[in-house]
This record gives sequence, C-alpha cells and structure tokens, in this order.
Amino acid sequence: MGSIVKPLSLILPLAFSLCFSLLSSQSADPTPAPWPHQFHSVLFMNNNGSLQVVDLWYDWTNGRNFNIIQNQLGKLLYDLEWDNGTSYIYTLDSNQECRVLLFPVGVLRPNWLEGATYLGQKEVDGFLCNVWQKVDFIWYYEDVITKRPVHWVFYTGMTAHVMTFEVGAVLEDPKWQAPVYCFKESEKENAVFKSVVSHGLSRAGLMTG
Ligand SMILES: *[C@@H]1O[C@H](CO)[C@@H](O)[C@H](O)[C@H]1NC(C)=O
Ligand SMILES: *[C@@H]1O[C@H](CO)[C@@H](O)[C@H](O)[C@H]1NC(C)=O
Repeated sequence: MGSIVKPLSLILPLAFSLCFSLLSSQSADPTPAPWPHQFHSVLFMNNNGSLQVVDLWYDWTNGRNFNIIQNQLGKLLYDLEWDNGTSYIYTLDSNQECRVLLFPVGVLRPNWLEGATYLGQKEVDGFLCNVWQKVDFIWYYEDVITKRPVHWVFYTGMTAHVMTFEVGAVLEDPKWQAPVYCFKESEKENAVFKSVVSHGLSRAGLMTG
C-alpha cells in the first residue's frame, strides 16, 4: 500500500508545478532589455562577406554615439553621432576625409526595441537567446540568462556579433571631438560609408518614445 501512496504524493506536486510553468510561459512573452544608458561594445560585422570590427560607444546620457569602424585591411572610419541629428564621419589619416550628415532623428533611445515581436528562443554563437523582430528591419538576439545582446541581423543581411559588452564604460570627452577639417566650408564627399548601427536604424524610423 505504502508503495502506491508515496509515488502519488511525489507526482502530484510535480504535475502542479509543471502546469503552472506552462501557464506562466504562455501568459507573457519576454521583452528585450532596454539598452544601458552608457556602454562600450566591440562588434564583429559581416556585410555580405565584407568584414568590420566596430568599437561602439553608446552614450545616451550625454546624447552621443560613436562607431569606430575598422574595415578588414582597409579604412579606419569614425562615425560620431550627436542627438541633435548631426553626424561626423571621418578618417584621422592624411586623406583628412570628413562628411557631415544630418539625420532627422538623433541617437537611438535606450528603449528602441520596445514593441518588437517575440519570435521564441534560438541558439546563436553558442548562446541560448530570446529573439525579436522589429518592423521587418532587424532581428535581435539576447542571451536568455544574462539579457546581454549577442547578435543582430539587418534586413539587408548585414550581421553583428557582440564580442564585448561593458555596461557603464564611457569614452573620454576629448575623443568625441571631430577634427578641424570637418568644420571647413566644403567638406570632402569622396568617401564611401556604410551605416552600421544607428544610422540604418534611424533611417528606418525605428525611434520610439
Ligand atoms: C554579395 O557578394 C557577392 C560576391 O561578391 C556578390 O556577387 C553579390 O552581388 C553580393 N550581394 C549583395 C546583396 O551585395
Ligand atoms: C550638434 O551638436 C554638435 C556637438 O555639440 C555640434 O558640433 C553641431 O554643430 C550641432 N549641430 C546642430 C545642427 O546644431
């Protein structure tokens, strides 16, 4: 007799807790973590086989964002964005290239992923991630446990792999100064630029809030 009662007393609580976890997982989809107001990240980008390493300094607190873009065996580009919509894209070599661009929207807001559609979980780069899609423009992968971004894919096929993610890291103020040749009357327009993070997102009108 005792041999029947015991297993039941073990199984019932188990069955109950299973029911509860199924119910709670159906009740609300996870939402992406807002971006920290300041962070530094090294990104590995692949745009149809063209590779880049990007130093991303996101600094919402000071209304600025910096992409320092090393093209593989190629140009080192500085893409400095201010929240007033002005971007300076320049080299610091003897070519002294600089382009000043105006965007109607400024730096990505920390909550720019709000309203994204949850697609479920998928393993990417060896990390189990929650996946969201935002307006057919970006697919965003975030580590289920740590909530850190791991990977994103633009609709163009351009992919980013997040190599480091240092919350609270801030680039020193003097590094945010565009060179003097950005402030000449006629800027050089001969450089070819690829939008990396914010530019592409801003153009798609992804700004929220
Ligand atoms: C990707 O690269 C291949 C090989 O260089 C090229 O043929 C193709 O047109 C490129 N695709 C896009 C979308 O740029
Ligand atoms: C935006 O801010 C930057 C940095 O302070 C400045 O250099 C630029 O002239 C400003 N642009 C406009 C349109 O006010």
